[in-house]
Amino acid sequence: MDRILITSAIPYINGIKHLGNLVGSQLPADLYARYCRARGREVMFLCATDEHGTPAELAAAKAGKPVAEYCAEMWQVQKDLSDGFGLSFDQFGRSSSEQNRDLTQYFAGRLYEAGLIEERSETQVFSKADGRFLPDRYIEGTCPNCGYERARGDQCENCTKQLDPTDLIDPRSAISGSTDLEERETKHLYLKQSQMRDQLRDWINSKTDWPVLTTSIAKKWLDDGDGLQDRGITRDLDWGVPVKRGTEDWPGMEGKVFYVWFDAPIEYIAAAHEWADARGLSQKDWYRWWRTDAGAEDVRYVQFMGKDNVPFHTLSFPVTIMGANSVGREQWKLVDYIKSFNYLNYDGGQFSTSQGRGVFMDQALSILPADYWRWWLLRNAPETSDAEFTWDSFQGAANKDLADTLGNFVSRVTKFCRSKFGEEVPQGGVPGPAEEALIADLQVRLENYQAHMEAIEVRKAAAELRAIWVAGNEYLQSTAPWAAFKEDPDRAAAIIRLSLNLIRLYAILSAPFIPNAARAMLTALDTDDAWPGDVAAALTHLPAGHAFSVPENLFSKITDDQRAEWAEMFSGVRT
Ligand code: 2FM
Ligand code: ZN
Repeated sequence: MDRILITSAIPYINGIKHLGNLVGSQLPADLYARYCRARGREVMFLCATDEHGTPAELAAAKAGKPVAEYCAEMWQVQKDLSDGFGLSFDQFGRSSSEQNRDLTQYFAGRLYEAGLIEERSETQVFSKADGRFLPDRYIEGTCPNCGYERARGDQCENCTKQLDPTDLIDPRSAISGSTDLEERETKHLYLKQSQMRDQLRDWINSKTDWPVLTTSIAKKWLDDGDGLQDRGITRDLDWGVPVKRGTEDWPGMEGKVFYVWFDAPIEYIAAAHEWADARGLSQKDWYRWWRTDAGAEDVRYVQFMGKDNVPFHTLSFPVTIMGANSVGREQWKLVDYIKSFNYLNYDGGQFSTSQGRGVFMDQALSILPADYWRWWLLRNAPETSDAEFTWDSFQGAANKDLADTLGNFVSRVTKFCRSKFGEEVPQGGVPGPAEEALIADLQVRLENYQAHMEAIEVRKAAAELRAIWVAGNEYLQSTAPWAAFKEDPDRAAAIIRLSLNLIRLYAILSAPFIPNAARAMLTALDTDDAWPGDVAAALTHLPAGHAFSVPENLFSKITDDQRAEWAEMFSGVRT
C-alpha cells in the first residue's frame, strides 16, 4: 500500500496538553507518519484542534475572552508546541474552520436523506438567570449514581457514568451557580445509530487484525444495551456549527448547533480540505485522500487515539460515514486500522488537566529538547496496559539509551576518526568475521524493526532500535579500533569506515523516534537518508574519502540533581 492517510485524535482547544495526551495519539501517529514517509510512501498526516462544545466556551469565559478569540490564540499555542515536539502534520487544522462547517452540514444533509436523522422533542434544563439552556458541562450537580457533588451534565468524573443534565440531583448552572432552573421542552436532532448495529457489527468483526484494545471496546459498546443508543447531535449553544442540512436551513433548528462529537471527527476530512485550500490546490487533490469514488480507492487509512475515544471512532463516526455513503452518491473513506492506547500515569497518580497534575507540553520543552521526551514516551507507550512516568525511569532512559549508547557511539567513532585519520572516511583494510557477524545480526534486527513498525508495535520497535544501537557499541568494544590502530592501522580503518556507515544507518532508523538527533547525525556525515534494504550495502554507502564533521554532543546526561529538582518542581499542581 503506497498511500497512507493518518489522523491523530484532535486535542480539545482548552489548555495545553500533558505528556499523557501526547503519547496517547499525536506522538505515535507522528512516529508512524515519519516511518511511512521514510519508506517512500505518500503520506497525508492530519490533526487539528477540537474547538467546539462546552469545554471551549467555559475555558474562554474563565479567560475572560470571546470564545473565537480564545480559540484562535490557543490554536497558535498548540501549533507552536506541536512544532516544538516535531509533530510532522501535513495540516494542523481547526474544527471551527469554514471547511468543517460546510462538511458537517453536508454530512447532516446526507444522513437526513438516508433517513438516519430524526427530530425529537425533549426536556432540557433552562437557566432563567443565565437566559439559556444548560447542556453538558454547563450544568453541575450531585451524581445520582455515586453521590459525587461536582458531577457534570454529561458525565460524572468520579464514577465515569455518562449522564444527561436532567439526571443530576440539586443541579446548578456552571456559569452563574444559579439554582433557579427549570425543564423546558426543546427540539433536537437524533442520529439513529441503532439502525446501523448489524452493519457496524459486520464491519468490526471483519477487522481481525485490529488491536484487542480497540475491538474489545468497540464490541462492548456495540452489544451493551446503552452503547449504541440513538444520539442527540444538536445543542442549544451559540458556539459551534449551525444546524443545516447541506446548505439549506433546517426548520425548527434555528439558533442551534451540532454537538461537538458530531463535528469533531468530520474535521479529519475538513483538515485535508484546509490543507488543499492553504496550498492553492483543488478539490481533486484532497478528494483523492478521502473519497473512494474520486481517487482514494488505494489509500490505507490509520487512526490513532486514546482508549476513551474508541467508541466514537468505532461506532459514531463510522455511522456518519456509512450512513452518508448509503445514499449512493459520494463515497467517503472508512478507517482501515485503529491504533488505540491506554493511559499514561504520572508518578503514582493520574495526569490531570483539570487539576494541573503532571508535566505539560510547554513545561517539558522548557527543560529538555523534544527528542528526550519522544524517546521516553514512545519507548514506554501505554500499549498493552497503562504506563507510568517517573523521573527515575526518564533519567535512566535518557542516560543509558540516548547518552551512553547512541550518543557515545557517535562521539567515539567520529572523534577517533578525526584524531587518527582526519575528517574523512578512512581507506584501507577489508571486512572480516567480526563485520560479517555484525551485518548478519543487524540484517535480522532491521527486519524485526521494520515488522514492528509496520504493525505499529511501538514499544517493540523501540526495543529493537535500542538493540541495534547496542550491537554497534558491542562491535566497537570488541574490535577496539584504538588498540588495533597501533598494530595495524588498516584494520582500524576498516572498523571505523564501517562504524561511520553505522552512524548513518542509526540516523535513518532512529529518525522516526528522535528526528532532531537523526538530522544532526546526517548533517555531520553530509549524507542522504535513503532507507536501507540490505545492511551490507548500507554499511558501505559512505566510501573512503567521503568528508564528514564531528557533530556536537548529541545528548547530555540528566544529573541526579536535575532529576531531583524536576521531580520536586512537578510534584504539585500547576497553577
Ligand atoms: O478526547 C479528545 O481530546 C477529543 N477532543 C478527541 C476528538 S477526536 C475526533 F473525533 F475528532
Ligand atoms: Zn458518579
